[in-house]
Amino acid sequence: MRGLRLSSILAVVAVGASAIPTKGISSPYDGFKVFRVKTQGHPSAIQEKLSNITFEQWNHDVNSHIDIVVAPDQLPVFAELGLEFDVMHEDLGASIAAESVHSSLWKRQAGDPSWFDSYHDYNDHIEYFQSLHDLFPDNSEIISSGSSYENRSLYGIHLWGTGGPGKPAVLYHGTVHAREWISTATTEYLTYKLVTGYNAGDRDARSALDKYDFYIIPIVNPDGFAYTQTTQRLWRKNRQPGPNGSTCYGRDINRNWEFAWDANPLGASTNPCSQTYKGERPSDTPENQGLDKLVRQLRDGAGIKLYIDWHSYGQYILSPFGYKDTLYAPELGKWTKAAQIVSDAIRDSSSDLTTFTFGPSGATLYPTTGAAPDHVYSIGRAEFSYTIELRDIGRYGFVLPPELIRPTVEEQWAGQKVLWSLLDEEFFDGVGPA
Ligand code: ARG
Ligand code: ZN
Repeated sequence: MRGLRLSSILAVVAVGASAIPTKGISSPYDGFKVFRVKTQGHPSAIQEKLSNITFEQWNHDVNSHIDIVVAPDQLPVFAELGLEFDVMHEDLGASIAAESVHSSLWKRQAGDPSWFDSYHDYNDHIEYFQSLHDLFPDNSEIISSGSSYENRSLYGIHLWGTGGPGKPAVLYHGTVHAREWISTATTEYLTYKLVTGYNAGDRDARSALDKYDFYIIPIVNPDGFAYTQTTQRLWRKNRQPGPNGSTCYGRDINRNWEFAWDANPLGASTNPCSQTYKGERPSDTPENQGLDKLVRQLRDGAGIKLYIDWHSYGQYILSPFGYKDTLYAPELGKWTKAAQIVSDAIRDSSSDLTTFTFGPSGATLYPTTGAAPDHVYSIGRAEFSYTIELRDIGRYGFVLPPELIRPTVEEQWAGQKVLWSLLDEEFFDGVGPA
C-alpha cells in the first residue's frame, strides 16, 4: 500500500499541498454487499435459510439481526431466500476505498483536530503520539506495553498532572481488533483533549489529570492493524501463525487473557481458523504478555481505578463478567450506575441522540472467555472495568466513513469526562434501595 516515508511527507508539507490521498487499501471486496438481516428473536430459522449461501458474519449477537458480507456470485441465491434486510454497504470495495488512509498536514500543528478527519497508518499514529508528548513534555512520557509477534511496539503515552506521576491509573486499550479503526481514533482523541485541555486550563482535563495517571495504548494489535491496511481490511486477530501446521493465522487477543481463559466452552473458539481463536494456552501471544505485564505493574503500584477496552461496533458499555452470563460481581450495581450516567452523557451531547446500551457483558451480549475486562478486574483489581463498543449500530459497521470520526470521538469525550468525575464519588457505595 502506501509507500510515503517521513521524508516525502515533509517534502509535501514544505510545498504546501493539502491532504494527500495515498493509494487505497487493496481490497478483495469489490462488488461485495453487506446486509443486516432481521432475525426478530428467531435467529435459528434465519440461520437455516442462510446456510444456502456462503457469507462472512460481522456480529455475534444475532437476536435481532445478523450482519453479513456476501460475495457477488452469491447475490442471486441470497435474493431468493426471501429475507427481510437492510443494505449496510452497496459495494463494500467502494466503501473501503472511500475510507482511504490519508497523510495530511496535521504535523504542522498536533493541536489541530483535523487529524480526526481521516484514518491513518501505523507509523503516522506513532508520530502523532510523539507530537502530543511534545506538546506536554513535563507531564507525559512515551511508553510501550511490549511488542507484537512481528515486533512492532505496543506504544502508548503516560500522562499526569500536578504533583507528578504516581496516582491511581486510568488504562485504555484501543484497536485490539484490527479492523475496529474507530477505536484508534477514540483513544487518540481522548489523549488529544486531555493534553490540549490541560495546557489551556480546561477544568475537566485538569481535574482528571490531577487525580489520575493515564496510560493510553491506542493500538494493542499493531500487526493486525497494519494487515488491515495492506491486505485485508476486515482482519480481526493478531498475526501469529497457527499451531502445529495449521495454515490459519492469528489469535484473538481478546480471548487470550489468563483469567477464566478456559471457563466456558461458549466463550471462545479452539479452532485456529476461527475469528475468536483463543490460542493454545492462556497468554500465549506476545501482545497479551506485554499488556498483562503493565496491568500487573499498575496494580502493584498505585492501583487501577478505571480500565476500558475500546471496540466497535454496536454502541454498548459492558462490565464484567463476560465469561459467565449468570455471574454478577458485587460491584455490578455501581458499574451499571456509572455506565448509565455515561450513556446519558453521550446521548445528551450528540446531535442525533446516540444511545448506548449497558450492563454485564456476558448477559447483555454473549459470553467471552479470556477477555480483557474480566482479567483487568479480577487479576488487575481495577475498580471499574469496561468494554465500550463504539458507533454504529449497523449502518456501516466496521467500515465507518471518515466524516463520522469526529462525532463518534467527541461524544466519547463527553462520556469520559463525566465518568472520571464520578469514579471517587461515595454515592456509588450506597447504591441500593432507598
Ligand atoms: N466485541 C468484543 C469481542 O467480541 C467484545 C465483547 C464484549 N464482551 C462480551 N462478553 N460480549 O471480543
Ligand atoms: Zn472488538
